[in-house]
Amino acid sequence: MTVTDDADRPAYDELPSESPLGAPLDWAWLRGAKSEWGIHPKPSPRGLTMLDIAVGTYGDIPEHPPRRSMAPRGADVDDDVVDMGYILNSKTDVWAENTRELYEEAVARQWSATRDIPWGELQELPDDVEHAVCQLCTLLTEVEMIAADLPAKWMWRMNHDFIEAKMFLCTQIMDEARHAEVFRKRALANGGGLLLSRGGPTSLLRTIIEAKTYTQASALLHLLGEGFVLDIFRMGELIAPTDVEKRIFRMCMQDEARHVAYGTMHLRYAVENDPDVAEEIHAALDHGEQVLIDFGTAPDVSTALALLLAGGAEHVEDKGFPLALELTKKQFTSYLARCERAGISRLERTTVPLDLLGIDPEQVRGAAPVAQGAQS
Ligand SMILES: [Fe+2]
Ligand SMILES: [Fe+2]
Repeated sequence: MTVTDDADRPAYDELPSESPLGAPLDWAWLRGAKSEWGIHPKPSPRGLTMLDIAVGTYGDIPEHPPRRSMAPRGADVDDDVVDMGYILNSKTDVWAENTRELYEEAVARQWSATRDIPWGELQELPDDVEHAVCQLCTLLTEVEMIAADLPAKWMWRMNHDFIEAKMFLCTQIMDEARHAEVFRKRALANGGGLLLSRGGPTSLLRTIIEAKTYTQASALLHLLGEGFVLDIFRMGELIAPTDVEKRIFRMCMQDEARHVAYGTMHLRYAVENDPDVAEEIHAALDHGEQVLIDFGTAPDVSTALALLLAGGAEHVEDKGFPLALELTKKQFTSYLARCERAGISRLERTTVPLDLLGIDPEQVRGAAPVAQGAQS
């Protein structure tokens, strides 16, 4: 690190003090800078990543930023910068240790719902199966955008020093736009269209958007809601009637895993550094689990999934419902394991009927290694 020193650069003293029109000129940025100088981050094999430039003090995220301005973290900042009125001013409010990695991964793995899905391979399906695909796509088109609206609701209140977290949430918003797009396109692409929308899912969405704090919102959205959707996508191979839907689920799954990984690690960071926040998270999840159970058992969701898992109406009872129950078990098991990873064990507190679902608490504890990347 070299601090800029006027004595080293005598030529700067000869710069004009007035513009050609007579206005005074200020060269403070050239002569007086005290920020780090002479740093040369080395690009990694992938290129110059956000991790590569997190060097020197540029990599330090303050626990409590000194300002609430949009001044870039690490710059020399004047005292007169404008207060932006941020309310999320503690690192524990928004941070996750995997934020930079997840941002880079998100940028590297963007895809196009127009170009990257083999729409030309769609084939005519039996009426019951096409209806079920369309019903599931109607529901997903409806719920996906909550995961864009929610970060958007809170991002402008986040201190600018946490810019990597905000950048990651921008990628989540773009991802969700693409998810809403791809499911809307699938509903309309094969002669079916958008089917039934009813009150059940909406109450879940409202619970998420109305959460009192960002950390509560993150627990409800990333850990609970998106975690459940992630497990639906993970079972996409069984749910999808053709390779087109399989591809849609696979592409969405990659994105969803990042969102869930951010939320899990954010909650972990929050609880580790501010243990008082655990009760706030538990209270949100007490309510959220109940709303989610109502959502999962809503008639349109459970029947459409069972029919798809059965491959048609004929085997919905002997094959569809047993597989749907397996999916529910998987969803709650991985949700509870995520809670363990986040450091907010729900095993003693949850009202989810573990016995009824055949979930073994010891298995949940055993399946909970710490997740750094998008493998959540
Ligand atoms: Fe999504
Ligand atoms: Fe998501």
